[in-house]
Amino acid sequence: MKRAFITGITGQDGSYLAEHLLDLGYEVHGLVRRVALEDPERRFFRIKHLLDRIKLHPASLESYSSIFHVLTREKFDECYHLAAQSFVAESFNDGFSTMNINVNGTHHMLAALHELQPECKFYFAGSSEMFGKVRDVPQNETTPFHPRSPYGISKVAGFELTRNYREAYGMFCVSGLLFNHEGPRRGFEFVTRKISSTVARINLGLASELRLGNLEAKRDWGHAADYVRAMHLMLQQPEADDYVVATGETHSVREFCELAFAEVGLNYEKYVKLDEKLYRPAEVDMLVGDAGKARRVLGWQPTYSFVDLIKEMVRKDVEALTETPLGVSAR
Ligand code: NAP
Ligand code: GDD
Repeated sequence: MKRAFITGITGQDGSYLAEHLLDLGYEVHGLVRRVALEDPERRFFRIKHLLDRIKLHPASLESYSSIFHVLTREKFDECYHLAAQSFVAESFNDGFSTMNINVNGTHHMLAALHELQPECKFYFAGSSEMFGKVRDVPQNETTPFHPRSPYGISKVAGFELTRNYREAYGMFCVSGLLFNHEGPRRGFEFVTRKISSTVARINLGLASELRLGNLEAKRDWGHAADYVRAMHLMLQQPEADDYVVATGETHSVREFCELAFAEVGLNYEKYVKLDEKLYRPAEVDMLVGDAGKARRVLGWQPTYSFVDLIKEMVRKDVEALTETPLGVSAR
């Protein structure tokens, strides 16, 4: 039985990946913050249905010795390093914490694996934010990086560290350059979930408006359940390599709003209010990925369309508030 170690197992992707690996017959372990163990009901809400099938190890990404300690006790075949300060807007408020968690945390993981388990395959959660002010359209594995936020810069550094451990020590280290991926488990601060959850509240008369920043930004939005399959496939290849994972379609925040409100029969223009405070100091205007290499080499392709994704997110948010399937008595 293969053994996998997931950092960030309590997050959106970590929860879907843990489910996927359990389905494939893996023994799944996760790194969690010690503080999370004190409030499992709240901190483990995405993995509570898995808790009796996974093993959690308290450690801190910021502390090399805590990671070293876990890796001296347990041996793994695959390590998926997903933990990060992942909210781009927050990285402008606190770039120092973002760098510490995302860069030093990644370095600690790689260095501890190199020291103790160099045969363990390593996945780094790279991001389309690394392309930033894009130089090619669509973006692929050869597109130069031009990050536009401390978050984007931290991911470029993590990507370079991962490549360096591959080249310097011959370790099986790969980066997935994943474009935005969402779903009903997405954090509420990200724009898609902010929209779907507020649409549900407005639909039930619990809110009257949705305040947003830049409606014209365009993203290549897929579903997280599809994207974790690509992470696993990358670690099953004969050679370590980096892959773009994307749908190849781009849509604006405005289009997302229009379709999400339409899902409950409302016109977004009536409810969406622009708020200058939600604009970022430097924006990534447009992302669209070319996942041709992932399709060819990994045999990966997404199963969710943009519309399917929005329908599922809005439906789940309405159901969470009403316990009633959408279309029965949502209003
Ligand atoms: P997420 O929902 O924000 O989850 C982040 C995870 O990191 C959580 O489990 C969180 O633990 C953990 N974490 C944060 N700071 C930590 C620390 N100091 N020590 C230990 N754990 C810490 O993010 P996601 O959407 O699943 O994304 C997973 C990874 O993919 C991230 O690295 C993200 O940057 C990257 N990525 C995401 C996307 C996307 O569209 N979702 C696209 C490209 C790349 P707590 O629960 O304790 O906070
Ligand atoms: N969060 C948020 N809140 N974003 C808003 C808002 C708002 O009120 N109004 C407009 N936006 C715009 C942002 O300016 C951005 O252009 C776009 O919506 C998407 O923002 P987020 O959902 O916060 O995601 P992101 O694209 O910045 O980052 C996500 O995707 C990256 C991959 O490209 C995160 O998951 C990152 O961790 C990930 O690497």
